[in-house]
Amino acid sequence: MSQGNTTTQPSQPKSGSTAQPAASAAPKEAPMAIETEGAWLPRASSTYAEPYDAAWNFNLWVSIFFFAIVMGPMAYFAVKYKRKSETERTSPIDHNLKLEIFWTAIPTLLLIYMFWIGFKIFANAQVAPNDAMTINVTGQMYSWKFQYPDGTTCNELGVPKGRPVKLVMSSIDTIHSFFVPEFRLKADVVPNLYTTMWFEPTKEMESVVECAEYCGTGHSTMLTRVFVMPSGDADTAGTYENWMQNGCEKTPLPPLARGQKKYTQICKSCHSLDGSRLVGPSFKGLWGRQETLANGQTITVDENYIKKSIMTPSADIVQGYPDQMPPMAYLKDQDIEGIIAFLKEQK
Ligand code: CUA
Repeated sequence: MSQGNTTTQPSQPKSGSTAQPAASAAPKEAPMAIETEGAWLPRASSTYAEPYDAAWNFNLWVSIFFFAIVMGPMAYFAVKYKRKSETERTSPIDHNLKLEIFWTAIPTLLLIYMFWIGFKIFANAQVAPNDAMTINVTGQMYSWKFQYPDGTTCNELGVPKGRPVKLVMSSIDTIHSFFVPEFRLKADVVPNLYTTMWFEPTKEMESVVECAEYCGTGHSTMLTRVFVMPSGDADTAGTYENWMQNGCEKTPLPPLARGQKKYTQICKSCHSLDGSRLVGPSFKGLWGRQETLANGQTITVDENYIKKSIMTPSADIVQGYPDQMPPMAYLKDQDIEGIIAFLKEQK
């Protein structure tokens, strides 16, 4: 669980000590943050939170109590019964059956109870109510995609308040983990398998979906926003229905914006824009450049080279760079055209 009270998206560096409203080229969005409640657990925003937090607190206090009654006397006895001379003999007391039964039975019952309260929450989380709205979640390096029952696909999650939502999740590459601390939800998102969980949001809020499973160099940037909004009229701003019409990315972005977005989601962790060397070649001045490949051939960076390098990266490795990029065959033609448009701008 994340410590402290905020998690800030690392891709938005804080420059200087004052806000700079004039810097309109900077990302307009506020940093993503997880709010805490009373500097303790994250804000509780789903129907799980109450039993979950109760179980968590119970486990915590039981652990503190037993730590104290075991470690406290142990430290005291270590001093009190320290052997004081070479000739001092150890006490002949060996065991006390009644005491041993007592201190085995009590923790056993407590542990069964602790298992039971946790298991109840876990079991409840596995079975969604029949009227739950199903949202398909896809994890990929390093972004999330949410597909709604009507086919609308968004890269942020918006849900109506007070309505059960079932998530059916899968990954198209490595194992990710879908984690919304404020919903008290976390489950692995695994390739070739669907995992499900459900929740019912109880508070209007904006928070963050995190990836909680290390999935590659961009893992820490695998964040997106989650919105809980009241259900209502589609013409009223701020409602879930209005967000579905306007907030969520439905219409395709123009190529350059799409390319910029894909770059940030997928390419950024390995390809710089300023000429500095990361895992792969920088994109600065890449378009039209002559590159020498690992096999000695020389090529010119054009549309076909870029597409080939995205679909089958190991085919044409630039000399001096490792063959490390996974194929991105899942990208649509629109995405590739967007990336090409974006690359042409990197002069
Ligand atoms: Cu996906 Cu970490």
